[in-house]
Amino acid sequence: MTASQNDRVYERFQLIVNGPALFNAIVTGLELDVFRHLRDNPDADFEQLRLFTGLPAHSLRVLLLALTATELVTKRDGRYRNSAVADETLAEERPDSWRETLIGWRRFQYPAFPHATSALRAGRNTALEAFPGAGDTLYARLAHDPRLVAAYHDSIAPFTHLFVTGLLDNPELSSVRHLLDVGGGDGTTAIRFARRFPEAEVTIFDMPAVAEHAEVAVPADLADRIRLHPGDLFTDEFPEGVDGVLFSHVLEPFGARQNVELLTKALRALPSGGRIFAYGLTAPDDEDGGLLAARLSLYLNVLVSVGGLAHPAKDYERWLWEAGAAGVKSFTGLPYEHGLVVGTKG
Ligand SMILES: C[S@@+](CC[C@H](N)C(=O)[O-])C[C@H]1O[C@@H](n2cnc3c(N)ncnc32)[C@H](O)[C@@H]1O
Repeated sequence: MTASQNDRVYERFQLIVNGPALFNAIVTGLELDVFRHLRDNPDADFEQLRLFTGLPAHSLRVLLLALTATELVTKRDGRYRNSAVADETLAEERPDSWRETLIGWRRFQYPAFPHATSALRAGRNTALEAFPGAGDTLYARLAHDPRLVAAYHDSIAPFTHLFVTGLLDNPELSSVRHLLDVGGGDGTTAIRFARRFPEAEVTIFDMPAVAEHAEVAVPADLADRIRLHPGDLFTDEFPEGVDGVLFSHVLEPFGARQNVELLTKALRALPSGGRIFAYGLTAPDDEDGGLLAARLSLYLNVLVSVGGLAHPAKDYERWLWEAGAAGVKSFTGLPYEHGLVVGTKG
């Protein structure tokens, strides 16, 4: 055995380079409902799995070889079981299950990555050409088709559920009476915020096609506290009458100039003492490390927009000062590589 075979970096290298094939095997397992079946039938044997999946025996052999290689499924004495991680992340009917997210990554994100070299060379999201229509961001292209809007937001909602806890648990948010959720998407964050703070109201600002999608998702008992305000981030003013403006996973797709413009506009909509919350995947200030931050940054630049990054907190701090905020505070190291930067209007 060579030194490199004992090395942690070598082990990561092996996982990463074999990852695309194994990732797709996991999604196939999801599409064939293998993980739910194994949750309900632990210790199923090959024949039970063959009858359940309807796959030809040889195909099932190939799939199970891949799933056991991931260790999400284990095999003992010819019987198969989910690992605890598979039970928790892939089999449960929970709003934060990774199931729809991974299916969405396969559909929307991973077909774009082979364009990485051309996109990085060109300095623009060249993979966008796969989505017909006008507009130079993925969001603008999706907005042409309500079915795409629905599928895209179904795929990101579980991650929003998973990530939103780091935001809602931060005491800075608890005194907000009326939150403007800019780029609020399908309303997942607004609903979780309204449930956590029963006295507060939320206005979701998003593109008209997305606002229509969100409107149906708002439960009847929250309809008097969650409102929709369709509009364009860059061409429309934000509605006033709010005391907090949230950008949750909305500033990562854009670069410095656009983000200062958005933060300036948010400050304009706020009264004195009102606060801006910039929340999202945040690379460390020294930009070293972070799998989720690295993956998101590549995906943004290859497919979504120009200038995107899991911006480090120091960038948000600088932009908030430039926009004219009177005080700025950062909370970094939140779960799932997240950070929150809060700016106050003087
Ligand atoms: C990554 S999603 C974030 C959704 C949600 N805030 C969350 O935390 O999961 C970005 C959102 O920004 C919205 N968005 C992007 N460009 C926009 C624009 N020009 N005008 C309005 N909304 C926009 C998208 O429609 C989408 O809902």
